[in-house]
Amino acid sequence: MYTKKLLITAVFALLMITGAAQAGGDVEAGKTKAAACTSCHGENGEGVDPNPPLAGLEEAYHVAQLQAYKDGSREDPMMQMFASQLSEEDMADLAAYYATLGKTETLTAAAPKSG
Ligand code: HEC
Repeated sequence: MYTKKLLITAVFALLMITGAAQAGGDVEAGKTKAAACTSCHGENGEGVDPNPPLAGLEEAYHVAQLQAYKDGSREDPMMQMFASQLSEEDMADLAAYYATLGKTETLTAAAPKSG
C-alpha cells in the first residue's frame, strides 16, 4: 500500500514536470474526451479484446495514428469514424492523456490478486 502511494506521488510529480514541458496536449482535457474511447479501449486504456490498448502509447505515435485514420491512410471503419470527429487539439489531448497512463496500469491490471 505504502509503495503504491509513493508510486502515485512519483507519477504525479512526473506528470507535472512533463506537463509543464510540453505545450501540446492537455492531460485533463484528454481524460474527459477519452470517455468516448473507454467502451472499446478500456477504462484505463488497457484495451478490450479485440481492441488494442492505448495506455502508454507514445504521444507522437498516437497522434499520427489518429491523423492517419482521419485522412484514410490507415484503414479501419470504426476508428475512421471516431477520428473523423477529432480536431488536432482533441488528438493532442487524448494522446497526452493516454501517454500518462503508462505501462503501470496494464501491469497492475494483469498482476494476480494477492491476499
Ligand atoms: C467502437 C470501438 C472503438 C472506439 C469507441 C474507439 N476505438 Fe480506437 N480502435 C478500435 C479498433 C477496433 C482499433 C484497431 C483498428 C486497426 O486495426 O487499425 C482501434 C485502434 C486505435 C488506435 C491505434 C492503436 C495502435 O496501437 O496503433 C488508436 C490510437 C485509437 N484506436 C485511439 C482511439 C481513441 C483516442 C478513441 C476515442 C476518441 C478511440 N480509439 C475509440 C476501436 C475503437
